[in-house]
Formats: sequence, C-alpha cells, structure tokens
Amino acid sequence: MKKVLFVCLGNICRSPLAEGLFAEAAAAEGVSHLFEIDSCGTNGLHDGELPDPRTRKNALSHGLTLSHHSRKIQSADLDYYDWILVMDDANKRNVEALCQEDRQKQKIHKLRQFDPKEPNADVQDPWYGGEAGFETVFQVIQQNVHFWLKYLQQESQQ
Ligand code: 4NP
Repeated sequence: MKKVLFVCLGNICRSPLAEGLFAEAAAAEGVSHLFEIDSCGTNGLHDGELPDPRTRKNALSHGLTLSHHSRKIQSADLDYYDWILVMDDANKRNVEALCQEDRQKQKIHKLRQFDPKEPNADVQDPWYGGEAGFETVFQVIQQNVHFWLKYLQQESQQ
C-alpha cells in the first residue's frame, strides 16, 4: 500500500481534482487497493469546504464527482504519507518549510515531474482566472496522474 498526498494552496481547486483523478485512474487499472490517497492545502483558508463550484462543475462535465472536504496540511502528514505531490513551487516551499528532516523533504515532488511537455512545470492555479482555466488544469492533472500511477506501479514491482 502506497500513501499519496496531493497538495495545493487552498485544497479546493487543484489538489482535490488530482486526488479524484488519481482515484479514477487507479480504479480503471484495477489497482485502487494498492493506494491510499488524500489531498490537503497549505493555507487552511477553506477548511471543511467542498471543492470550488467551478472545479466541481468542470469535473462533473467529465463524469467525475468530487466530494473531498478541504483540510490544511499537518506535520503528521509528512511522516504518514510516502509521496507528497505538490502543484507548484510555492506549495513545495511551503511544505518544505514544515519539514524537520531530509527524509520528509525527499517525499515532496511536483505533480508535473514526468510531464514530457514541460517537466516539473507548475500546475497553474485556476482560482483567479476564467472557466477555460479549469478545463486546462483538468487536462494537465489528468495526464500527470497517469504518469504518476504508472511510475508508482513500476516502483512497487522493483
Ligand atoms: P487551489 O486554488 O490551491 O488550487 O485550491 C486556490 C483556491 C483558493 C485560494 C488559493 C488557491 N485562496 O487563497 O482562497
């Protein structure tokens, strides 16, 4: 069982979508039982809230229902999870600032690490923009969770 935590700033747009899309991809591959997944944010401003209505509407247009409730990252997450996948460099810096050991920092990776188009690029925050940004983010996250699923499946066979 691998434990994977997706992290963004507010935990209402990007990371709950990444969690939902990873779960969907794992289910499609018949490997849900190999993963424990969750998502959280670094700022806690939307604690308890469902994802942003624009994120939910866009996900639903692709048949995906998002029901995660926003929560702030806590220091216990840095020990509990094996993989901490962040959306952008600011998330990475914020999570690193919570780490007390290198062992924890080594768990942090950018979601677009394997993206052949722009390796290690940020997943842009759609929060401030228009509706089109939500579809762009959906496509970027959907592609990248597949890269991670493949990588983590291979990694567990080694
Ligand atoms: P997210 O987007 O990090 O993708 O969930 C944001 C949503 C809300 C805020 C920031 C980012 N906010 O500060 O309210």
